[in-house]
Amino acid sequence: MMNNQSREDASQDFLAAMNMGATSPDPCVMVVFGASGDLTKRLLIPSLFNLYCDNLLPDSFAILGMAMDDFTSESFRLKMSADLHKYSRREHFDEIAWADFCDSIHYLKGRFDDDDAFRQLKSFLQALDGRYDTEGNALFYMATPPSVFGMISTGLEGVGLNHSDDGWRRIIVEKPFGSDLASARKLNREILTYWREDQVYRIDHYLGKETVQNLLAFRFANGMFEPLWNRTHIDHIQITATEQVGVEWRGGYYDQSGVIRDMVQNHLFQMMAYLCMEPPTSFEAEAIRNEKFKLLSAVRIMKHEEVRHMAVRGQYDEGVLPDGSPAKAYRDEHAVDAHSNTETYAAVKLRIDNWRWHGVPIFLRSGKALRTKSTEIVVQFRRAPEFTFRGTPASGQLEANQLIFRIQPNEGIEIRFLAKRPGPSMHMRKVNMNFEYDEAFITHPGTGYETMLYDCMHGDPSLFSRSDLVETAWRIVQPILDVWGAEKARDFPNYPFGSWGPKAAFNLPAPDHRRWLARTPQQALERVPMFEGSGKMMLHAFAMMLKPAVFNAGDEIARLGDEGRELFIIEMGSVDIIDQEGDVVTTLGDGQVFGELSLLVTKKRRASVRAVSYCALYIMEKRDFCKVLMDRPQFAGRLMQTARERYNVIVDAQEWMASDDLD
Ligand code: BG6
Repeated sequence: MMNNQSREDASQDFLAAMNMGATSPDPCVMVVFGASGDLTKRLLIPSLFNLYCDNLLPDSFAILGMAMDDFTSESFRLKMSADLHKYSRREHFDEIAWADFCDSIHYLKGRFDDDDAFRQLKSFLQALDGRYDTEGNALFYMATPPSVFGMISTGLEGVGLNHSDDGWRRIIVEKPFGSDLASARKLNREILTYWREDQVYRIDHYLGKETVQNLLAFRFANGMFEPLWNRTHIDHIQITATEQVGVEWRGGYYDQSGVIRDMVQNHLFQMMAYLCMEPPTSFEAEAIRNEKFKLLSAVRIMKHEEVRHMAVRGQYDEGVLPDGSPAKAYRDEHAVDAHSNTETYAAVKLRIDNWRWHGVPIFLRSGKALRTKSTEIVVQFRRAPEFTFRGTPASGQLEANQLIFRIQPNEGIEIRFLAKRPGPSMHMRKVNMNFEYDEAFITHPGTGYETMLYDCMHGDPSLFSRSDLVETAWRIVQPILDVWGAEKARDFPNYPFGSWGPKAAFNLPAPDHRRWLARTPQQALERVPMFEGSGKMMLHAFAMMLKPAVFNAGDEIARLGDEGRELFIIEMGSVDIIDQEGDVVTTLGDGQVFGELSLLVTKKRRASVRAVSYCALYIMEKRDFCKVLMDRPQFAGRLMQTARERYNVIVDAQEWMASDDLD
């Protein structure tokens, strides 16, 4: 029988064998400028090694790292080997393959402003070309800050390495590609002084993600969606990319950047472009790039005075890490200004001025130091007209359909729709259809860079940004950068590390009568004593009904004397329960629940509830709760019993069933 290890080996071998059918890229030497930096060890070498193991590197291939640090080829290999063992995400690390691959790594110490270093580089390249038979092809990877792109290009031009009559020359340029519209234009001009546009590959690693590329397959390989993909059927779109980590060791870079420059202007816009562009006439690179450019060009540019309503910024305060240990505020992070005005969170509303999307708001949000790491797109459809259901219990119960692309993690696609609850009457309930990548395909835990490197060696620029796209993306965010740069945020820091982000961002879609869709928060429900023993399906049904809400310290969450119709689950933060005399009876915190009795009995609240700190809550409305319970009479019975035992409340099932909430 096969053990797990040999099964993994076999599946990896099989994958590698399948990949042999893929065209091998051209032989080449890949020169990495800034090779001693983070990118090389964390992403470039791990992805090149993944390509190698999957038979997707050319047979004739070598890597030449160049940087100022003191390494020889031998010591650089040793460092790469130690780093790769740390950063590789391969399930099974093949030491023999690594030893083979490692032999092709070389190093040259040199400064980018030193002509002599470039002369040495030229001779080194010639030697490698002879040794590895790379046919004169060279790929230059700028793993450096953009400020030295020009200097490196000058050095390469000085020794004639930026063009060649035999073999190709290409450069890969890492983000940030400029820091605003003016600097991006300048950088483009500078780069295009030395290189032709078709030699320049501007990388955005989100386009290397299978789930992002699948947006094109989903839209254009499935005929059923295109007729619905427009303003007539789609109500709005939400694109969210949240991260759990703070800025970590990158404070120096990040403090000059912020999330609009770091994530929104590039990664989020790329996803928006794939999701909203017109069908290209082919999968040729220029056909796709033209459509993306057209889409971004149609995004309405905000007026400065609109920025306040259409964009919200946040900066994280101290808080807690996922393991419960304390986390620093952004302003206390290494290399960050103690009075920094840099945003670590942003939510933005955009409009696209074309026939397809007129009137369909696009909400984008991204941030660091949040509760979860997740990238997700929600396409919300328009609600069906209600009149057909007049006079049935379904009247007033129709909810919009949602199509959810889970980009990462739990990669998949979900459709949420309404179904008739079995039984004699027309009651509706929200259900879902779910596709999970790892159930349908064998997936590789890659870095996202593999496809990009492979495509570049192939000369396929489809996944790389053309200069016009980059500039258009900057044009869209420029008013936000102008306004936020000119006006210091008065409420920074405005969300704790490990939270859901600032309250104002949470409320951004509200004036449009929309709300952010929450991730299914099943774990939150598992902690509620009332739901103990509910079972997976039941919890799932309840979880889809939960509505997230954020309160700041001092906000009133529930008022004494109001009729309670909801349960609150405290995901994080603390609240005071205040009696008629205004005294704090008790304080509740993370994971605790209040208001649960109002799901069972209709009563006026005997206390007020006030947020002591920032609070992230899930709210379950009685109406939704009742809908779910009707499908599960046994659970309803058990719940009534729990109410009697735990809260000494007797719920009259007949009365409860007949209450308004079930209409
Ligand atoms: C990078 C940003 O481009 O993307 C980082 O510079 C961010 O700040 C990263 O953490 C997120 O990428 P991913 O693939 O983890 O979502």
